[in-house]
Formats: sequence, C-alpha cells, structure tokens
Amino acid sequence: MIDEIRNDFTKLQDELLKGPIYPNVTPEEIRCHLASRYDFTKAMALDEVVADVERMLRTWQVQVTHPRYFGLFNPSVTLASVIADTLVAMYNPQLASWQTSPAGNEIERHTLGWLAAKFGLPPDTLATFTNGGSEANLSAVIVALTRAFPDYGEDGLRCLAAAPAIYLTEESHHSFSKIAHMTGLGRKALRKVATTFHLTMDIADLEKRVTEDRKNGFVPLMVIGTGGTTTAGAIDPLPELGRFCQDAGLWFHVDAAWGGAAVISPTLRHHLSGIETADSITCDAHKWFSVPMGSGMFFCRHPDSVAEAFRAQASYMPGKATGPAFDPYTTSVQWSRRFIGLKLFLSLAQQGESGHAAMIEHQTRMANVLREALIASGWRIVNTTPLPLICFTRDGLDIAQFLASLRERQIAWMSEGQIKGAPVVRACITSFRTTEADIQWVVGEMHRLVKYNAVHQLTPAEC
Ligand SMILES: Cc1ncc(COP(=O)(O)O)c(C=O)c1O
Repeated sequence: MIDEIRNDFTKLQDELLKGPIYPNVTPEEIRCHLASRYDFTKAMALDEVVADVERMLRTWQVQVTHPRYFGLFNPSVTLASVIADTLVAMYNPQLASWQTSPAGNEIERHTLGWLAAKFGLPPDTLATFTNGGSEANLSAVIVALTRAFPDYGEDGLRCLAAAPAIYLTEESHHSFSKIAHMTGLGRKALRKVATTFHLTMDIADLEKRVTEDRKNGFVPLMVIGTGGTTTAGAIDPLPELGRFCQDAGLWFHVDAAWGGAAVISPTLRHHLSGIETADSITCDAHKWFSVPMGSGMFFCRHPDSVAEAFRAQASYMPGKATGPAFDPYTTSVQWSRRFIGLKLFLSLAQQGESGHAAMIEHQTRMANVLREALIASGWRIVNTTPLPLICFTRDGLDIAQFLASLRERQIAWMSEGQIKGAPVVRACITSFRTTEADIQWVVGEMHRLVKYNAVHQLTPAEC
C-alpha cells in the first residue's frame, strides 16, 4: 500500500508543476458539471468517479501544495502524513474514549507530550488535537472562563457580577471575534490593544486598558499573544506579556497556530521565548508542520480546569479511562473524534525532529531569498518578522490589479493584506518544495509585469 501511495503522491506532485496554480472557473460551470453527471439515481464505476473528482481537484482549485503558492499558511504535505490520513480513514478509529482506541490515544498523548516539552510546559500539561486553530482558541477561552469563574459552567455568563474582557490586537486572528460571539461573551468583550511600529502588542497600552477596565467595573480575563500573526507574521512580546499576566492575575494564551512549529528549530526557537509561561497554547500541525488539514492542537497547563470545562457523562459511552489515561470526550470540545494526531506522529517519526526543523529552516531561508530579491527589484518591504512571511508594496501600484494579473498569468499565488490601513502584497513561503529558482523566476516575472502594466495601463483581463 505504501508503494502505491508513494507513486501516486510523486505523480501528483509532478502533475501539479505542469498545471495551473489558480483556477479559472465559475460556480455555474461546476454546478452544471455536477448536475449533469451526479443525480445519484444509479451507481457509477468508482474508477470513473475518482478520475472525474481528481480532474476537478487538479483544475478547479488553488493548488496550495504548489511550490509557487505563497499563500495562507496552507502547506505542502509530507508523504508520511498522507499515508497516516489514509490509514486513519481505513481503520476509522474512534478516539473519543481511551478504551475504544488505546493505541490511537496513546500515540496522540506521546506526540503532544513531546511538543508540550518543546514549548517548555510542565509534564502534567493536558493537550488534545483539535480540528484546527480556531477550535484550540475556543478551548482556551472556555477553560479560562471556567477557571476564573467557578459558577460559569452551571449558571452561565449571566451569573457574573461584571463583564469579562479579553485583550488582543487588531493583528490577532479573527477566530476570536467568532469565539466571543459563540461563548456569549459578546464581540464587545474584545479589547483591541494598540500595536507598536512593528505591529506587536503595545504593553503600555495593555496596562492602561486593563487598569481602565477595572476602574469601570469590567473583569479583565485573558491576554492573547500571537506567535506569528496571520497578516504580517509579527510575534508579540511573549516574555513581557507573560510577566504582565502573572502580575495582573490574567490568563495568558499564546496563539502560535502557525509560528509555533518554530519551537523545534534551533535557529528560530528563541523568537518564541516566553511561550513557556503561557497558560495555554494553540499550535496547528496543519500549518508549519506540513501535514494535511484538520490538525490543530490545544495545550493547557491547568489539567483540572480543562477537565472541569469539558466534563461530560453518558451512560452509552464505554467505561471511564482509569489510571493515567483520560477520555478525550471529557477533556475537549469534540465528542466523536478522528485519529487526528497520526499524521503528525508519522511525519515526525519518519523525518525526525531534525528533518522537520530542516524543512522549517529551508522555508525561512527561501523567504530571505525572496526578501532580498524583492528589494533588489524595487519593492518596499513593510513588515518585520524572522518568519517566512513578507508584506511588500511599491509606489503607485494597484495591488488588487497586480495580484489579479499575477494569478491570471499563473506566475504565483499571493494574497492581499492590510498593514496600518494600506493594502500590501502578502507572500508566505508555505511549501518545503519551494526553491531559490522558483523565487528568482517569480520576482523576475513580477518585475516584467509591473513594467508592462505601467507602460500599457492594462486591466487584469487584458494582461
Ligand atoms: C494566528 C492564527 N490563529 C488561528 C488561526 C485559525 O486556525 P484554523 O484555520 O486552523 O482554524 C489561524 C489561521 O490561519 C492563524 O493564522
């Protein structure tokens, strides 16, 4: 089986290099295709359907595993992680309870324990795999509320004498807006702390906001520090935030959904210094650990609060885990639980920690090549980060039009971001397969495009 997957995987990677990165399709085209072929009234040959679906996937989506996809933290994936996902689908283990899947649960515990130690968290840290960073961030807010307000679980937010507040910045991930909505805190509970010139949280403003809130009858609950912001890759001052939270009695959550993987790199890990003081951490394996989607992680140094937040009992569930084991359905948001962690486990086991670190460092090196090439080509870099994410612009450029031309010509996939209110081009090296030659070619093509557009004043469709 492994040989077959390996062959298909290699073939797919070669095919991707030949095909488009960016799809050119309308909803009507896809709907018409589906409606004309799939009314599900009669059985179809599996080979035929699979071939058709593969064709759709090859042509009708942005190819996030392409070496010239400089995109939104969606990685190229390792062969081992693809094999892992196939095994999981075939065996379909249920990890909700320990008794149902002793092997799966212990493999996850082992993998998470290894990473918790890398983060510098204590040995009794409770960690679970999640669907992604949003679920991990949601878990953090629920557990922080549970710890701060013992009556919250039974009586709800309405029992609180004062409204809780959460401190983050404009650069923090948008999942916190939904989380504030979903938990009943309300979106207004989010306090947008000012940022420094480098887009990191301004501690002086944080202190001021917390003091003001206390004076005005609110209850400061938690601070969200980000270890690699989504738009600009900025890393908040984690040691200072940790100290502040400790002194002020606030929960310190570090959202390292993307940047957290840097903790395994000897050359990058110091940028995450201070993460060890966090009460909880979010880190996505499906970002910089290069495994397929649906693989986030939540770490918390307060196992008792996690168990209280997610306690559950149901007579139809298999017997309770005993001894050092626990049932994930009683320590996490999810009930039925896929064996999420196998893709990270298998990938780490196959590549080793140093192999994974080398992939991360390669992407960082490629970003440095891109930075230098962009500067040499007249672009202005507008963000500061040691991580492989570059935001850039140039005078007089219509960013939206430029990006549309870039995609239509299949040069590369980049996104638009906003830095201090101004639109910028955002390029993140998310593939361990991106080479220096890819980067030099892309920057050369970008230069030609800028010059061509300037001379001809073209719309993207005309380019
Ligand atoms: C900093 C940060 N936190 C959280 C998330 C949400 O993660 P997910 O998409 O896995 O839910 C993202 C997604 O890009 C992110 O960049």
